[in-house]
Amino acid sequence: MRIKTFEQYQTAYQQSVEDPEGFWAEVAQEFQWKKPWKRVLDWNFTEPNVKWFEGGKLNITENALDRHLADKADQPAIIWEPNDPEDEAATITYRVLYDRVCRFANVLKKYGIQKGDRVCIYLPMVPELAIAVLACARIGAIHSVVFGGFSARSIADRINDAGCKMVITSDGAFRGAKVIPMKETVDDALEKCSTVQHVIVMTRTRTPISMLKGRDHWWEEEVKHVDANCPAEEMDAEDVLFILYTSGSTGKPKGVVHTCGGYMVYATYTFANVFQYEPGEIHFCTADIGWITGHSYIVYGPLCYGGTSLMFEGVPTWPDAGRFWQIVEKHKVDILYTAPTAIRSLMSFGLQYVKDHDLSSLKKLGSVGEPINEEAWHWFKHNIGKDRCALVDTWWQTETGGIMITSLAGLTPEKPTYAGLPLPGVQLMLVDENGQEIEGNDVSGNLCIKYPWPGMVRTTYGDHERCRQAYFSTYPGRYFTGDGCLRDEDGYYRITGRVDDVINVSGHRIGTAEVENAINMHLGVVESAVVGYPHGIKGQGIYAYIITETKPDDPEMFRKDIAATVTRVIGPIARPDKVQFVSGLPKTRSGKIMRRILRKVAEGDITNLGDTSTLLDPAIVDEIKDGAL
Ligand code: WT7
Repeated sequence: MRIKTFEQYQTAYQQSVEDPEGFWAEVAQEFQWKKPWKRVLDWNFTEPNVKWFEGGKLNITENALDRHLADKADQPAIIWEPNDPEDEAATITYRVLYDRVCRFANVLKKYGIQKGDRVCIYLPMVPELAIAVLACARIGAIHSVVFGGFSARSIADRINDAGCKMVITSDGAFRGAKVIPMKETVDDALEKCSTVQHVIVMTRTRTPISMLKGRDHWWEEEVKHVDANCPAEEMDAEDVLFILYTSGSTGKPKGVVHTCGGYMVYATYTFANVFQYEPGEIHFCTADIGWITGHSYIVYGPLCYGGTSLMFEGVPTWPDAGRFWQIVEKHKVDILYTAPTAIRSLMSFGLQYVKDHDLSSLKKLGSVGEPINEEAWHWFKHNIGKDRCALVDTWWQTETGGIMITSLAGLTPEKPTYAGLPLPGVQLMLVDENGQEIEGNDVSGNLCIKYPWPGMVRTTYGDHERCRQAYFSTYPGRYFTGDGCLRDEDGYYRITGRVDDVINVSGHRIGTAEVENAINMHLGVVESAVVGYPHGIKGQGIYAYIITETKPDDPEMFRKDIAATVTRVIGPIARPDKVQFVSGLPKTRSGKIMRRILRKVAEGDITNLGDTSTLLDPAIVDEIKDGAL
């Protein structure tokens, strides 16, 4: 599965287009299967129906753990760096990780969790998070990890959508100087959930919490009383491995479903090739396991490839803005995979936080989550990579399971602000508004994928029609990414951003409709419209236009109250950065909000708002322009 030169990349890409099934069968053979597959691929993009490695039986944890015990038992699988640099880091070898996963899997079983049951995991970035994920996979339970920054209500929505039987959480979480409640938030969520029978609580902060008799159990106590042996459940390649919720342009977040065989193959193949991982290297992905990046490039990819994955509990700016660089120095990190928003934020603190640290262990850098601007690209390459490290800009999505467009570290040429070329096995196309393919180079359009890849989304949990609608209906027969894209004269791809009503705030996907729904719940709000605008650090910020019943006496206070409501309904990550009170919204005669105008005003570009003659009340545009923030 390893591509080692640019020529090999070209050959592999060619082969993957001419004979995709042969290509993927070759990659998949490198894994440990309990039974071989009968058919490599069965698919159509109309229903959609996509099945990879049908009939194949496996357990992903045998690939992530058992098969490394022979020659890597004492090699670190996970290195854990705590929030506070004064506290001790932990090294978990493959043998120890195997033992802890098996024990915890037996705890899950003890509380009635069986193959196919859904388990919600709401934990900070502690080793137990990776252990809980793998323990679910060990027994065939479906994990649904919910990022620690989501509110009780968001947790409840996700638990109810998936019908989770169990929640795994901690008393609290350390994030920089803050202590954040976790169990208490879960308790609030569970007021609205009837499917959850047991809660396992790991001790982290020693925050006083309530423990309900019969329902709540301490992690540390439970693992003492179970067997250390837990045979891996035999899973079908197309059995569900996990659900991960993500925002779209409409309605509530969707539960993106990934399956055992294809996801394993794709996460591992991309990890090995994109980062050109060599044995013994320390891979530091700064994402949270609550997002797909953490699933694929902290847990599954590195472990299935027998690598060493560094997990960091804290934040990049605490105790100071040198925290990442200190970790790189301390653990001699080889690969650093982070997000443009983190780079821009650390840039703004100045080079004094970089210069005292020895970054000579670094070999490869990666970026993910949003388009990386030229300045941040060069700063990262020059000041962190010392112009010596490869820098890969990796484009992908929760739905793709793994990296799709990128350069291969050190093999394929880099171009600042360009993700680069499709990986072998990925067949891209650009289309115009009518769905016509735009061929040739030096063109732009909407980014679609025309052929299945093993890591792709299979369905949206509990609602297959929603999956079809969201990804396969805009351009029939194609998977539509929601991104705009250009292909330059050399065939390099540059993602220009979402073309739907999704905002990318600090690499987090937020649906405008979700934020609007939350704002509209606030007392005195009549209606709202939310758009994204360029933000120096976050990439995009959230700009809300709000109509209130009466003019707010104290607009500043009202803004804070709205932020509190959004925090309660969704979580702090969806708080608007700017709130403009308006008396009306620019609507067409058919009642549709002309978001184009709102976006322009939010961007501060009010000179050319285009044709406003179809608006019901064109005068409102002047009011909005005058009040722009
Ligand atoms: C959206 C997916 C899977 C990575 C974490 C985000 C944007 C992601 C890039 C990149 C430009 C990027 C796209 C995509 N995006 N990576 N390298 N360059 N844009 O996953 O939350 O599912 O969001 O993030 O707009 O559609 P996600």
